[in-house]
Amino acid sequence: MPSLLLSLLLLCLCPTAHSARCPKPCVCDQIRLTVACANKNLTQVPPAIDEITVKLDLRSNDIQELPTGAFKHTPYLTHLSLQRSNVRRVREGAFRGLGRLVFLNLANNNIDILYQESFDGLSSLKQLMLDRNRIEEIQPGAFSQLGLLNLLSLTHNQLVYLPNMVFQGLQNIKLLRLSHNALNYLDTEAFAGLFSLTRLSLDHNELQFFPTDTMTRLSEVTRLELSHNPMTYLGEESVSMAKLTHLFLDHMSLQDMSHSAVSKCPSLVHLDLSHNQLRVLQPLSPGTPSLARVSLAGNPIYCNCYLRSLREWAVGRKVRLLGSCGGPAHLSGEPLDNMTPSELRCQSHDAMLKAEYEEATRNTPPPAPPTDTHIKCPDNCVCQAETQHSTCENRGLSKIPRGFDPGSRLLDLRGNNFHYVPSGSFPGVSQAVSLHLQRCHIVDVEDGAFSGMRGLVYLYLSQNQLSSLSPDAFKGLPQLTYLHLEQNRFSLVPAGAFRLLPGLLALHLENNSISALGAGALSGADSLRSLYLSGNSIQHVAPGALEPTPDLDTLHLGANQLKEVPTDALSAVGGLRELRLTGNPILWVGPQAFRPVQRTLKELYLNNMGLERMSPDSLSGLAPGLRSLFLEGNLLEEVPDFRSFRSLEVINLAENPLMCDCPLLALRMWIEKVNLRVRATCANPPEVRGRWVKDVHTFHSCPGGESLPPAPPTTTQSPRPPKATKPKPTHLNRKRQAKMPPTKTRTKTKTRTGPRDVKKAV
Ligand SMILES: *[C@@H]1O[C@H](CO)[C@@H](O)[C@H](O)[C@H]1NC(C)=O
Ligand SMILES: *[C@@H]1O[C@H](CO)[C@@H](O)[C@H](O)[C@H]1NC(C)=O
Repeated sequence: MPSLLLSLLLLCLCPTAHSARCPKPCVCDQIRLTVACANKNLTQVPPAIDEITVKLDLRSNDIQELPTGAFKHTPYLTHLSLQRSNVRRVREGAFRGLGRLVFLNLANNNIDILYQESFDGLSSLKQLMLDRNRIEEIQPGAFSQLGLLNLLSLTHNQLVYLPNMVFQGLQNIKLLRLSHNALNYLDTEAFAGLFSLTRLSLDHNELQFFPTDTMTRLSEVTRLELSHNPMTYLGEESVSMAKLTHLFLDHMSLQDMSHSAVSKCPSLVHLDLSHNQLRVLQPLSPGTPSLARVSLAGNPIYCNCYLRSLREWAVGRKVRLLGSCGGPAHLSGEPLDNMTPSELRCQSHDAMLKAEYEEATRNTPPPAPPTDTHIKCPDNCVCQAETQHSTCENRGLSKIPRGFDPGSRLLDLRGNNFHYVPSGSFPGVSQAVSLHLQRCHIVDVEDGAFSGMRGLVYLYLSQNQLSSLSPDAFKGLPQLTYLHLEQNRFSLVPAGAFRLLPGLLALHLENNSISALGAGALSGADSLRSLYLSGNSIQHVAPGALEPTPDLDTLHLGANQLKEVPTDALSAVGGLRELRLTGNPILWVGPQAFRPVQRTLKELYLNNMGLERMSPDSLSGLAPGLRSLFLEGNLLEEVPDFRSFRSLEVINLAENPLMCDCPLLALRMWIEKVNLRVRATCANPPEVRGRWVKDVHTFHSCPGGESLPPAPPTTTQSPRPPKATKPKPTHLNRKRQAKMPPTKTRTKTKTRTGPRDVKKAV
C-alpha cells in the first residue's frame, strides 16, 4: 500500500512523467488509473502499461494466448476485461501477481480447457466470468486458489461431466452458474466443499435424473434451477436440501413425480413444475411447511376426480396452484385455483376404471436407485463404489462379463480376448458414460451390441481388428458423442454405421487402411465436428464426401496419399477451422486451394509433404483469419507473400531450401516487421547457406529492399556460423539441399515471442 500511495503522489506531482507509460493504441486516464484498449486488434497484452493501473480493458482484441505472468507488471489491477478477445489458452500462472484483482471477465473467448493453475494468484478475486467459451474440461485444482470468489459463471460452454472436487477451494462462493452446457452426469462429490453456495443454475443441460447424492452436499443452497433438462420422473425424496426455498423444474419432460419428491426440503416456498407432461399430481406429503406456490402452467393437467385430493390439499394448506386445466373439454383453460373440489368429478364408473387403468399403465416409475453401499461387480473385476468405475482390464477374458452395477459410470474392459461383441452385451448399465474396449481382438460388433446404454458418451473400440460395421451396430446409443475406431482394419469408412448416432461430435479413424473417402461415407453423422483420418492411405476425397457433415471444424487428413488439396470437398464444410494435410505427397498447391474455407480456417498444416511450389495465390483469402501455418520440411525455394496475414501467430518455414534472392524479398520485408519466430533459413545462394533469412543482406540490393536496416554482424546469432570452407557450387541438387541438418524446431510451439526474442531468433 505505501508504494501505491507514493506512486499516486508522484503521479499528481508530475503527470507528464507518466503519460509516457500509456501503450500506443490505448486510452489512459491518469486520474482514474484506467487503461482502455478495447477493439484495437491487439495480439498481446501491451507491455508498457503503467504499473499503478487499476482497471484494464482489453475487450475485443485478438489475444490468442495468455502466457504465464502476462500481467506481472500491473500488480494493482482490480478489474480486468478480456471478453471477446479470441483467447484460446490461459497458461498456468497467467494471472500470477494479480493479488488485488476483484473482477475478471473472460467471456466469449475460445478457451477449451481450464488448467490446474490457470487462476493461480487471484487471491482477492470476487467474480469470474467464463461464459460462452468452449470449455469441456476443468482440471482438478483449477479454482483452488480462489478462496474469496463469490460468483463463478460458466454458462454456454461444452461441459459434459463434472468430476469429484472440481470446484475445490471455492470457500466463499455464493453463485455458481452452469446453465447451457451439455452436462449429463455430476459425480457425487462434484460440489464438495461449496459450503457457502446459495444459488446454483444447471438449466439447459442434459441431466436425465435428479442428481440426489450430488445435490445433498449443498447444504446452503436456497435457489436451484434445473429447467430444460430431459428428466422424466422425480422419485421419492429425490430432492433433499435443507435450505432450498426456490426450486425450478420447469420445461423438462416430467411425466410423473412422487408425492414425497420434495419432502426433504423443509424450507421450500416456490416449486415450479410448469411446462412438463404432468396430467395429475398427488398432494405433496408433509415436510414442506413453507410451501406457498406450485406452478403447473403448461402441463396437460386433467381436471377430474383424481385431481381432487391435490386441490383439497392446496386449499387446506393455503398453497397456490398456478396453471389451468388441460381437460376435460368443459373445464379446459379454467384456472386450477378456481376449481372447487366438487367440480372435479369422474363421469361414470366405467370412465373411472378406464382412467385408473390408464393411470396405472402410464405411471410405472423407474426402479429406485440401490441404497446399499456395496455395488455389484462381475468376478475377476474391480469395482469402486465411490466413483462407479468398474475395471476388468487385461484379465484374459474371452467373454464380455455381466453383472455390472446398474449405477456404473465407467466400464474398462480393455486388453481382453473377446473377438466379437454380441448383441445386448451390456444389459442394465444404462448410466454408463464411458466404455473401453481397446485391444480386445474384436473382429465384429453385432447389431444392437450396446443397446440399452442410453447414457453412453465415450466408446473406445481402438486397436482391434474391425474391418466393417453393420448399420445397426450402434443401435440404442442416443448420447454417444466420442467414437474411437482408430487402429483397426477398415479399408473403407464404415458407411451407414453413424446414422444411429445423432449426437456424434468426434470420430476417430486414424491408422486404418482407408483408401478413399467417397460420397455418402459419412452419411448420418450430421452433427460431426471433428473427423480424424490421419494415417490411412486415402488417395481421393470425393467432392461430396463431406456434405453430410456441414458443421465440421476439425479435419485431419495427415499421412495419407493425397496428391492435391481436396478443394472441392472443402466446399461442403464452410466452417472448418483446422485442416491437417501433413505428410501427403502434395508437390504443388494451386491458386485458391483453400477458398471454400477461407473465412474460418485458423490452422493449416502443410508440413513434411515434399511440397515444391506454391502458387502466389495459393493461400489467398486466408490472410485475415489464419493463425497458424506449418510449412516446414518441404522443398520450397520461394513462399507466397505473407504481408497481409495479420492474424498469424505461428509460422514455421524451417527445413526448406529457400533461395535468398530478390524473389524472396517480400518474405524478408515481412520478417522485418512481424513479431513472429519465422524459422526460415537460406539454402542458396551458397555463400549464405544455413543462415537465417533475417540475417542475410543480399536483399539490400533488390529493387524495393533499400529500406531494410543494415545487416547485423554476420557471426552473432546465426544457427550455424558459416564455416570457413569453400562455397559449394550452385548446381547442388535439390534433394541434398532439402536434407540440410534440420534446425532445432518444435513444430507445435505456440508460445508468443516478444519483439526482443524475434531479433535473436529470426
Ligand atoms: C482492426 O482490424 C480490422 C480488420 O482487419 C480493421 O477493419 C480495423 O480498422 C482494425 N482496427 C483498428 C483499431 O486498427
Ligand atoms: C497413428 O500411427 C502413428 C505412427 O505410428 C502414431 O504416431 C500415432 O500416434 C497413431 N495415432 C493414433 C490415433 O493411433
